[in-house]
Amino acid sequence: MTPERTVIRDALTDVPAGTVVTVAGWVRTVRTSKGGFSFVQVNDGSCLANLQVVADKELPNYDSEVVHLTAGTSVTATGKLVESPAKGQSVELHAEDLAVVGPADGEAYPIQPKRHSFEFLRSQAHLRPRTNTFGAVARVRSEVSGMIHEFFRSRGFVQVHTPIITASDCEGAGALFRLAADNREEGEDAEREFFGRPTYLTVSGQLEAETYACALGKVYTFGPTFRAENSNTPRHLAEFWMVEPEMAFCDLAGDADLAEDFLKFIFAGVLERCREDMEFFNTRIDKTLIETLTHVAETPFFRVGYTEAVEILSAADRKWEYPPRWGADLQTEHERYLTEEKFSGPVVVTDYPAEIKPFYMRINDDKRTVAAMDVLVPRIGEIIGGSQREERPEVLTERMSQAGLNPDEYWWYLDLRRYGTVPHAGFGLGLERCLQFITGLGNIRDVIPFPRTPRSAEF
Ligand code: 4AD
Ligand code: MG
Repeated sequence: MTPERTVIRDALTDVPAGTVVTVAGWVRTVRTSKGGFSFVQVNDGSCLANLQVVADKELPNYDSEVVHLTAGTSVTATGKLVESPAKGQSVELHAEDLAVVGPADGEAYPIQPKRHSFEFLRSQAHLRPRTNTFGAVARVRSEVSGMIHEFFRSRGFVQVHTPIITASDCEGAGALFRLAADNREEGEDAEREFFGRPTYLTVSGQLEAETYACALGKVYTFGPTFRAENSNTPRHLAEFWMVEPEMAFCDLAGDADLAEDFLKFIFAGVLERCREDMEFFNTRIDKTLIETLTHVAETPFFRVGYTEAVEILSAADRKWEYPPRWGADLQTEHERYLTEEKFSGPVVVTDYPAEIKPFYMRINDDKRTVAAMDVLVPRIGEIIGGSQREERPEVLTERMSQAGLNPDEYWWYLDLRRYGTVPHAGFGLGLERCLQFITGLGNIRDVIPFPRTPRSAEF
């Protein structure tokens, strides 16, 4: 294959008209005119737009191949880029050569040139990146992922690769996937543990990230996390990606400031760098998307204590499915009310009741609440969860026991408090929730390439 191919994004924007280029991609649509011309829309995934390839009957394979081209066929095309008379495209390619690389059975091809439901496309997860929406999601996801590293590294954070296999239950929510080796010999003790102890897929890299923060100051971990919660909702996955920064010598206020700066950096960045894809989402998914993201990137986030939030919700003239009550977790309906109606923008809710939050969060002086924060955004609700960590060894040990954890098993975590303890804080952003907010897509399964949800792991 020719190594000198031009990606269509460059062909449409960077390459001067008149240049001869070779492109390679997949046919989206073909229109053949009676006058002996075919107009072939080719997409190579480098951008949303297709390149129109104009082929005429002078091509040696015109009658045998070109007029029979169908959606899904892979092709290469070589020819001159010519300013296009057609509306909505800068240039088209006048083919001197148009070769079929791999044919596609046009009738069987599941991705026809029409609008398919997202639900149907989930059953075609291997082909859905060939659609406009899923191509755009993939590009935006990649860009956001890159910006996450850029943001933290530019602020002096060290990336730490925390393990995926762990023996600890960070969130204490009982939503662990247990691991078992699948290579036992016949008759071997089924209970034999590969690691000599029960192990799980991690629910969060936080505990390990804390150890490195208490040595390197500012760190972050970014990778897949797993939760066996049986919640079939449009905002939960069993496997999702989380970015977790952790800072030593930092309190909750510093943590909230970092979260706000971070989200603004990502939202502003995606608007600037993914213009074409964002305009597509704005047109096809949510007409207020760009306006909302622009507003959020420019306006200070509201801060409100949990207790005050419950008062606001209780005073609201509204019938709740779950009436707000001090001591109960905020439900999505509450989070949406705060962000969409009360404050019309992102809200950082702090100081939640201790009983509904994990053992590692720092107990406040009132003894009933912890130095927790959730960042809530319109439409989605919680996008970030974080806290200042309990740095006092006795308090932490007691909290562990209360939570039903054995402090002896977390001896290494407690060591951080025994030897040179420091106030420290961090948070976790769910990448897919963030992408839902950015793209406007209503179902979290549509912002990750291969969603893992209860009873669904086909691809
Ligand atoms: O609030 P969570 O459970 O916090 C933690 O895991 C902390 N250890 C983070 C930290 O302080 N370092 O999860 C953090 C974020 C949530 O706000 C949400 O965006 C996302 O992870 N999240 C999920 N995303 C998709 N599917 C799920 N099942 C998720 N559970 C949490
Ligand atoms: Mg949370």
